[in-house]
Amino acid sequence: MKGQIAVVNDIHIELSKNAILDNTQSHFIRILDSIAKENIKNLIINGDLCKDEPSVQTYQWIKNTLDLYPFNYYVIAGNHDKTKMIDQCFPYKKALTIDVEFIETNGLYITFLDTSSSQINEEHLNLLNYHIENIENNGNEIIYIFMHHPILDFDFEIMEKKYQIKNKALIVSLLENYSQIQFKVFSGHYHIHSHKIKNNIENIICPPCFFPLDQKSNKVVYNPNGSGWTKLDIKKTGFNFQFIFIPSLA
Ligand SMILES: [Fe+2]
Repeated sequence: MKGQIAVVNDIHIELSKNAILDNTQSHFIRILDSIAKENIKNLIINGDLCKDEPSVQTYQWIKNTLDLYPFNYYVIAGNHDKTKMIDQCFPYKKALTIDVEFIETNGLYITFLDTSSSQINEEHLNLLNYHIENIENNGNEIIYIFMHHPILDFDFEIMEKKYQIKNKALIVSLLENYSQIQFKVFSGHYHIHSHKIKNNIENIICPPCFFPLDQKSNKVVYNPNGSGWTKLDIKKTGFNFQFIFIPSLA
């Protein structure tokens, strides 16, 4: 996977009980149509595919919908997901749902982290550490990480107080130890779009598909213009990104 990538997160699909598609399904399709128009081939779904109770039927609907498009897609579990169900529904190579996955193509390093348990356990941190050490020894300067949960502080109290990743300080200090490497971390989860830099870590929160929030408010306030996807261009030397906003019709 190289070059242009579309990132979509927090789709929170809830299957309609009627034949007519409900808002979460039709809005997801609207976002996929927008990506397809840009002729982007790589797509990452960065967590929270389901809404309340994850179900095989919901994942199956998402897979069937994605398969209508010419995307090479990857699925990462969020806290509203069940990794086992994703594994069951998405065929091998269409979905990367294991806890720590590295892809290396022409010196470009991409990492996927499963944070469905709202934390990264010690074993996975050790594995992450091991891979970073190897990459550092090869003289590489940038590692891209896709994970559902943000790891820097975003001053968004309503989400950070209750729902932040549990061992975020541990992850941050692990990455900060490798000061020669820049970490570009793409997340979702807070239902806002934002961007923070701390030392060698840059953390981008990509806009959600479902229920964007007003980040200036300290209450849960719906932001009608905050839904969308992220257009990313990643290279060995750096990256560009653009948020594409697709207002929900409901
Ligand atoms: Fe989430």
